[in-house]
Amino acid sequence: MAEQLNISTSADKRERYAVLVPQIESLVSGEPDLVANLSNIAAALRQTMNFFWVGFYLVKDNQLVLGPFQGPIACTRIDYGKGVCGTSWKEKRTLIVPDVEQFPGHIACSSESRSEIVLPVMKQGEVVMVLDVDSDRLNDFDGIDQEALSRVTRIIEGCLAD
Ligand code: SME
Repeated sequence: MAEQLNISTSADKRERYAVLVPQIESLVSGEPDLVANLSNIAAALRQTMNFFWVGFYLVKDNQLVLGPFQGPIACTRIDYGKGVCGTSWKEKRTLIVPDVEQFPGHIACSSESRSEIVLPVMKQGEVVMVLDVDSDRLNDFDGIDQEALSRVTRIIEGCLAD
């Protein structure tokens, strides 16, 4: 694996993602341990993109359970269909929430969170975890984030292949 990140100082997030995503691929290559890989991915995303909170919730016993993350402490368990994460799990799709206060049932782990993107990670047609990113600014996520973070979830799916 790479020993350090080459962090782009570009103000353009598309360029920062372009530099970051291949490095994430190299970070996880050859490492079979999922927790180690998710931990480094969360750190790499936080370090490069300056997210307020970024991490994973893993499906365990029909709940989402907090996994590796970077940022303030967060709620540990989320039920199926609840909050943005549980809804992404239920609907098996990415959700971009420009204003969390407008999302019915949003779970406020931090009162500073203003907008959010959640992407499902799939294995054999089922959601096995979600990648959750929170911003302390309104309307902070768009198609650029969705596209780049989808590439990250596809890298994780590659790690999960049997
Ligand atoms: N806001 C999320 C809960 C997780 S925290 O943001 C880290 C939700 O509504 O599912």
